Amino acid sequence: MAEFSLPPESRFKEVPGRKHAAPAGAARVKTFRIYRWDPDGEEKPRVDNYEIDLDRCGPMVLDALIKIKNEVDASLTFRRSCREGICGSCAMNIDGVNTLACTKPIEDVRKDVNIFPLPHMPVIKDLVPDLTHFYAQYASIKPWLQARTPAPPDRERAQSPEDQEKIDGPSACILCACCSTSCPSYWWNGDRYLGPAALLAAYRWLVDTRDEATGERLDELEDPFRLYRCHTIMNCTEACPKDLNPAKAIAEIKKMMLERHL
Ligand code: SF4
Ligand code: SF4
Ligand code: FES
Repeated sequence: MAEFSLPPESRFKEVPGRKHAAPAGAARVKTFRIYRWDPDGEEKPRVDNYEIDLDRCGPMVLDALIKIKNEVDASLTFRRSCREGICGSCAMNIDGVNTLACTKPIEDVRKDVNIFPLPHMPVIKDLVPDLTHFYAQYASIKPWLQARTPAPPDRERAQSPEDQEKIDGPSACILCACCSTSCPSYWWNGDRYLGPAALLAAYRWLVDTRDEATGERLDELEDPFRLYRCHTIMNCTEACPKDLNPAKAIAEIKKMMLERHL
């Protein structure tokens, strides 16, 4: 069932945020406005302002977040790991766009840098969304090779370079959730619609020439919600920080569905 009301942790406007001024003498000051909410505290969500001296900060938004946590406010909570755009854990909404904090240059944001958790997800704390359902949806497409034919005893299952090329793109997905959380269909039907990230993963196995479960995989997706809630709005492809194209993959799956009924 579609849910149009915002969860309580999304309502923050009535609560004034705290301000952390830049150190005296800072010449190049940038303000970071960051969503704060602690589910264990009594306070409602708020937006705190942190003034940072860019002359003493690395170039990416993640550098500023780490600086704030290390030097200004240790209570700020966010996820990060690789700092190289590989792990997907620092995905958040920066300047109104879902992206990776570690690959987003601060200088790309002209005014204050507004930072929120990925939209339409339950919040665990501050910038950390609860991705339990998102990962369960990924697991539901059975993201592993399914083959009945035994593998050759002396080598891997062979694949031509052309066949490998088909999966190179979708295999590069880092499961950051930027695409699914920018998709209006996923916002409104995320309980039953798999969303672009899980469907891109499904596509990756559907086009893997070593996989022998194509029919079962398509059966699983043949459902008015799981696949067909995609209305080709394309937000997902625009949001992907790895330049992948989940919208095209979803269109290809729909084509495969049609072809097997012809
Ligand atoms: S193309 Fe489909 S999956 Fe992508 S944003 Fe639009 S509705 Fe969502
Ligand atoms: S398709 Fe792109 S945006 Fe979506 S989860 Fe994968 S890497 Fe992230
Ligand atoms: S910290 Fe790994 S993608 Fe940003």
